[in-house]
Amino acid sequence: MDTICILERKKSPMAINPKGSIAAAVDENNVLGRKGRSSLLWHLKKDLEHLAKLAAGKIIICGKETLASLIANDSGVLKTAAKAVFLSKNASIFSDFYRIPIEQATSFDQALLLAGDREVIVLGGPRVYAEAINYMNIQTIHLTIVHVKIWGDLYFPKINRSEWRIIASVQHKRNSENDFNFTIRTLVRRSP
Ligand SMILES: NC(=O)c1ccc[n+]([C@@H]2O[C@H](COP(=O)([O-])OP(=O)(O)OC[C@H]3O[C@@H](n4cnc5c(N)ncnc54)[C@H](OP(=O)(O)O)[C@@H]3O)[C@@H](O)[C@H]2O)c1
Repeated sequence: MDTICILERKKSPMAINPKGSIAAAVDENNVLGRKGRSSLLWHLKKDLEHLAKLAAGKIIICGKETLASLIANDSGVLKTAAKAVFLSKNASIFSDFYRIPIEQATSFDQALLLAGDREVIVLGGPRVYAEAINYMNIQTIHLTIVHVKIWGDLYFPKINRSEWRIIASVQHKRNSENDFNFTIRTLVRRSP
């Protein structure tokens, strides 16, 4: 019995391998953003509303710049999610004026520990997406494709498309609240 307890305590978060999803928005060349610019390259009100619904009740894991951008834009995800865990090795302080708790993790493992057994949604940026794809049992990618080719130098990590199946694809038209036409796709991992 004692031995079992010790093994349990030493279990690493990677061994827990929680299921979770990713949400990202890319242009037609897979561009996510621009180095040194925390805000997105487009304004798509409808997509942000969709993101807030996706994040409802989940634990957000994201990078520091992404969280700063969510806060600056008073993003709906910071109202609907259960908690936000941001990754940074540097001491960082965010105000706690939000309805949800905000916690810092200094490694991806620690972020998963802070998520506990709650469902995780990973909101980027590029390095955090790559770590999530490598370390988590990601089953769903909510990928918004913005129908524009825009200059940027941050990309969504390459995924093997044959491992993923598109189960939903909804097109949205450009209008006064949405800069470009865009398509919200849901990709799920094919069973092995
Ligand atoms: N289009 C989209 O859907 C989308 C979504 C999210 C972000 N973005 C773009 O991506 C840009 C970069 O986002 P980001 O800086 O938040 O994310 P990131 O580039 O994935 O992560 C970089 C930062 O996160 C921290 N970090 C990442 N992995 C870590 C780990 N394992 N351990 C400790 N710290 C870790 C580091 O912070 P420290 O250097 O402080 O240690 C690092 O500087 C944003 O500015 C935005 O333009 C686009």
